[in-house]
Amino acid sequence: YEEGSSEDAWPPTVYVMVVILLGPPGVGKGTQAVRLIDSVGGEHISTGDLLREACRDGTDLGLEAQGFMDKGELVPDLLILDLIRDHLSTTDSETSIVFDGFPRTIAQAEGLDGVLLDVARGVSEVVVFEAPEDELIKRLSGRRSCTDCGAVFNLHFDPPTSEGECGRCAGPLVQRSDDQPDTVKNRLRVYESQTAPLIEHYSSHPASLKRVSAVQPVNDVQLAFRAALGIGLTV
Ligand code: AP5
Repeated sequence: YEEGSSEDAWPPTVYVMVVILLGPPGVGKGTQAVRLIDSVGGEHISTGDLLREACRDGTDLGLEAQGFMDKGELVPDLLILDLIRDHLSTTDSETSIVFDGFPRTIAQAEGLDGVLLDVARGVSEVVVFEAPEDELIKRLSGRRSCTDCGAVFNLHFDPPTSEGECGRCAGPLVQRSDDQPDTVKNRLRVYESQTAPLIEHYSSHPASLKRVSAVQPVNDVQLAFRAALGIGLTV
């Protein structure tokens, strides 16, 4: 949607985006991706979610990825790019896409440009969410996800009404195995060494690069995110 569009302006001017959400573990990429897609439509592609699904299903990819994920290391670029290529082969070119947790290395970013070029598309926006490390550690230690519907809660900031039970579907809430303190420390180190350099990479890329402070309540981050995308300011 374009800035200034309102719920009663119909049909809205549809703006087909390819957005990359960059930022460290726990900063709120998944939370904001879901909210954006819920309100403007499009496809949310989270490589973390796709990999966890592959691990649960015991596919070849899942079996290869599990060891890397358990240690908080990155899954090899070639496996990730194959996964993305497969996924995009079924995505309509008129669909907006929000990438969450991908790309994570320069090689993945360059690979993505190639895959998108093949379908005459390109990255339009890169949004970097920022928060200090002590806040990230607190968020990750308190995160709980529903095994049935995937809803994400936080024991510190958004506690479920009954302990261990999803407030949406009553499914069981669990802690992600890679949210244990030692793995979190490694994920933060891996982010700094392998993913943070993408900020510099995208500063000389045709996509627009915006930074958003994630140290504010979820609704306020959402407003700042939408403003960064220029898509209107109502939640
Ligand atoms: P992945 O699943 O992508 O994890 P991540 O990038 O580390 O990010 P997270 O999902 O932990 O955090 P998030 O930023 O989405 O935060 P969320 O919204 O949940 O990757 C997992 C693993 O898979 C990797 O370690 C790697 O092994 C592998 N992998 C994945 N992609 C890969 C790739 N491309 N290449 C190679 N390997 C790959 O929020 C966190 C918590 O905070 C929640 O509880 C939420 O409710 C809460 N919260 C959110 N916003 C706020 C707020 N504003 N205030 C207070 N609380 C908040």
